[in-house]
Amino acid sequence: METFLYITAVYGVYLGIGVFVIGMAWRTYQWATTPKSPVRLGMFPKPKTGAARVLKMLKDTLIAPQSARIEPLMWAFAFAFHVAALGAFVGHGRLIHEFTPLVNWLGEDGMATFAAWSGGTAGILMLAAVVFWIARRTFGPFKQLSVPEDYLLLALLFGVIIMGDHMRFVGTIHAATYREWFQSLLVFKPEIPDDILRSTTGWSLGAHMLFTDLFLIYFPFSKLVHAIGAFSANLVRSE
Ligand code: HEM
Repeated sequence: METFLYITAVYGVYLGIGVFVIGMAWRTYQWATTPKSPVRLGMFPKPKTGAARVLKMLKDTLIAPQSARIEPLMWAFAFAFHVAALGAFVGHGRLIHEFTPLVNWLGEDGMATFAAWSGGTAGILMLAAVVFWIARRTFGPFKQLSVPEDYLLLALLFGVIIMGDHMRFVGTIHAATYREWFQSLLVFKPEIPDDILRSTTGWSLGAHMLFTDLFLIYFPFSKLVHAIGAFSANLVRSE
């Protein structure tokens, strides 16, 4: 297991984060240096002031009312997924530093209960959304519109989430142990704590990280760059 973990949860993480950061910087540079269209691409109704444009851009990006009108069920799952992903992202911050004020407030046990409920809810919502997306592209009319990339991304996301959920619901390793491992990566002195090496949950962590590494490597070259592109694309819509 140690070799597997060093590949996926040490070197793979460095590679994944490196490709992600450089890839996204390259994508952003490409967008920034693409000549502006001489034709205005805005759609009516257009906001009159700059502030109203920014507000409309934020509404169109973060709430996406146009998607809600076209495919309400898809919108509901997508909205739940993004809110849950944001929650899980914040929760993963615990790997860098314990949320000390929250622990002081809730106590050690209270924090563990809160993390179990919030992480568990986020994990279930994300899993439900990905299963819905896979079903949507596997049965019914959207199958005809789907390309292999659509399935690849969903498969990677499914892998990341199901293994994260496995650690959350079945694993017995304490957050502090995961933090020890992740902090060692941050200071470039990678070490995998014995508690992880001795537990079968170590395999789940390795699998969670394998899917995450692949996801991060692929992200800048996939349609997921909409995470950044959506903001500028929606701004152009009101030009
Ligand atoms: C470098 C990147 C990442 C690291 C180091 C990491 C690490 C971890 C760890 C250690 C856990 C177990 C938490 C516990 O049980 O105490 C976990 C859970 C989880 N992870 Fe990740 N993860 C990463 C990226 C991701 C990504 C990109 C996603 C989703 C797109 C994700 C989704 C989840 C979910 C849904 C859970 C279960 C719910 C929760 O505890 O938040 N992770 N992750």
